[in-house]
Amino acid sequence: MELSVNHLLGIKYITEADIQLIFETADHFKEVINRPIKKVPSLRDITIANLFFENSTRTKLSFELAEKRLSADVINFASSSSSVTKGETLIDTVNNILSMKVDMVVMRHPNPGAGVFLSKHVDASIINAGDGAHEHPTQALLDTYSIREKLGDVAGKKVVIVGDILHSRVALSNIFALQKLGATVKVCGPKTLIPKYIEKLNVQFEPNLVKALEWCDVANMLRVQNERMDISYFPTTREYTQQFGLNKKLLDSLNKEIVVMHPGPINRGVEITSDVADSKQSIILEQVQNGVAIRMAVIYLLASKIKHHED
Ligand code: NCD
Repeated sequence: MELSVNHLLGIKYITEADIQLIFETADHFKEVINRPIKKVPSLRDITIANLFFENSTRTKLSFELAEKRLSADVINFASSSSSVTKGETLIDTVNNILSMKVDMVVMRHPNPGAGVFLSKHVDASIINAGDGAHEHPTQALLDTYSIREKLGDVAGKKVVIVGDILHSRVALSNIFALQKLGATVKVCGPKTLIPKYIEKLNVQFEPNLVKALEWCDVANMLRVQNERMDISYFPTTREYTQQFGLNKKLLDSLNKEIVVMHPGPINRGVEITSDVADSKQSIILEQVQNGVAIRMAVIYLLASKIKHHED
C-alpha cells in the first residue's frame, strides 16, 4: 500500500484510502513512541528541511520530533517575518533547497498556495504545515485521528467547528477530512467570520452556539485569528465570548457528553474557558500527542516514494 500522492499539500488532494493508510501507519508509530526507546532507524538516508516563514510552536516541535524519531537528518529555518513578498522568498527558498540536496521540505508560509508552488519547482517531497488561511493538512489528520481514537470511528459522527472559519486553515482542512471520512460538518460563529462559499462545501451554518452544541458529537473550538484581520469582524472580545465561547455551565447543560477539541494555541477565557479546556471531555492534549504519530506516518509514507530511499 502506498499514498496516491508524492506531496501532502492539502486534504483536498488526497483520498479516503490515503487517510486510512496514514491512520494505520500512525497506530504503529503511536505504539513506537510509547516504548522506552522511541526511535526507529527507518529514515537514516533522508534529509528534511523545516522551513517556517510564520510563527509556530506545536506544529514545528511536533514535526521536528517526528523526524528525529524516524532518524532523519533535520535542518531548520525559521523566519518570524511575514512581510516578505511571495515570489522573492519562494524563489530564494527553491535555490537554497536545490543546492542543499534536501529530500523533503516541511513548510509553513503566510501565502495560500505556497506549498503547491514549491512542489512544482523543486525536486523534493513537500509537506504543507499551513499555508495562510488555506490548508493545514497534518492538523486535520491528527484531529480526525483523535476523533477516531475517542469515538471509535469518524463515519457518521456530527462535528461542529466553532469560531473564525473565514481565516482558518484548520477549518478548511478539517471540513475536507471529516467529509472524506463520512462525518457531517456544521460551522458556528459570527456571520462575518463565515465564508460565503460555505454551503457549496456541503457545510451548514448554525448561528446559535447552543443549538450547534446540542446537535453535535464533537465541538472543535477555534481561535480568533486576529493576526489575519485588517478590520473588525465583531464588536468586542467580550461579546464574542458571550455568544460563541464555551464555558463549563454551557457544557454541563447539554443533554449529552460531547467531545471538546482545540488545535491550540488557546486563548483561555475567549473561545473556551480554562475549566472546559482542562475538563475530562477535552481531548486537547491527546491531539498534541497524536500529532507526532500522525506526522511520523506522513513522513514515512512520503519517504517510501523517494527513489534513492531503501527501506
Ligand atoms: C493553528 C494554525 O497555526 O493554523 N495552530 C496549529 O497549527 N496548531 C491554529 C491557530 O493558529 O489558531
